[in-house]
Amino acid sequence: MKIKVTSPGRVNLIGEHTDYNGGYVLPCALDLTIDLFFEKKSNESYVNTDLGYSMSFDVNTAFKKSDNHWENYVLGAINELKQIKSELSNFSCSIKSTLPSGAGISSSSALVCGLIKGLSRLNEIKLKNSDIINLSRNVEHKYIGLLGGIMDQFTILNAKKNMAILLNCENLESKFINLEFKEYKLLLLDTNVKHNLANTDYNQRVSECKESVQLINSLCNKNYSNLSQVNKSDLSLSEDKLGETLYKRASYVLNENQRVINSVEFLENNKLKEFGQLMYESHFGLKNDYEVSCKELDFLVEYTMKYDEILGSRMMGGGFGGCTLSLIKDSFIIEFIELIKKEYFSKFKRKLNPIIANLDQGIQMSLI
Ligand code: GLA
Repeated sequence: MKIKVTSPGRVNLIGEHTDYNGGYVLPCALDLTIDLFFEKKSNESYVNTDLGYSMSFDVNTAFKKSDNHWENYVLGAINELKQIKSELSNFSCSIKSTLPSGAGISSSSALVCGLIKGLSRLNEIKLKNSDIINLSRNVEHKYIGLLGGIMDQFTILNAKKNMAILLNCENLESKFINLEFKEYKLLLLDTNVKHNLANTDYNQRVSECKESVQLINSLCNKNYSNLSQVNKSDLSLSEDKLGETLYKRASYVLNENQRVINSVEFLENNKLKEFGQLMYESHFGLKNDYEVSCKELDFLVEYTMKYDEILGSRMMGGGFGGCTLSLIKDSFIIEFIELIKKEYFSKFKRKLNPIIANLDQGIQMSLI
């Protein structure tokens, strides 16, 4: 028996760095995927990728962290499954990908969700989507050291074609939003500033937000469990106590949550221009208040502002590199890409990778 799992990347329309703050996000799945082909083997396991990486091991030896970053995704996924079923079958897994890595479109979650989905089937472990989401998040937290939220995994498991998911990350209630961009398309511009978020200030933002909640609770005598529960008046009351940096972080989260809610209303009423404006506001919040952007991302977003054919643009994903997302008139895409590629290269001496974001369904599994 051979198993094929197709695991997509994710695009987030708006609602960045809100997931681990119990807030709202509005993600979709991309048509770029990681495809994983599994087969049982008797003595040894091996994993190879079309990027030329490969590893071999016995699946039942005890977990030992690898010096090769990507191998820890594989070893971590296996170790999490072993907590459920202690003896697993050896296997081969061949990985082919159209999803660029380090571009902020969630290649790592696509890999881990794909591994867990395929290996659980191969070993007859029954898992619900919510189990796969939690195990995948454990892999990022425990073996990679990235204290991320739930957005990427939830999207990969649940997405539907041409729809966004309005997800409340506190209680995981979700609603599908039908997307009709008419003569507009979503365009990703990958800065080629590669990141491994675990080595950025991402985790620091997570702890700054936790610290803000504690300070607000102690000053206002409240019991908020995350920043998204905080009301505006308690935030204002806490401004001095929080100090400039934490106040900026907390204000950003409250504003971004509101922008997600407003975006849904605009998208449901075909008000694309108004939605685009919120994309810009989100970007400037991420740049100035949350401070997770970088000069390459800022340049790409600011460059779009002089064109009427572009309704909105913002950095997308964890930040510190990765890509921007823009809402652009279809007929202008080719011309715009030529222009911005040249400008970007002459300024940063880096290649810009444009990707037209077609929105597709979540993870798929088949027997082949
Ligand atoms: C990364 C994390 C997500 C989310 C985004 C920022 O993609 O994996 O959980 O926090 O950054 O919105």
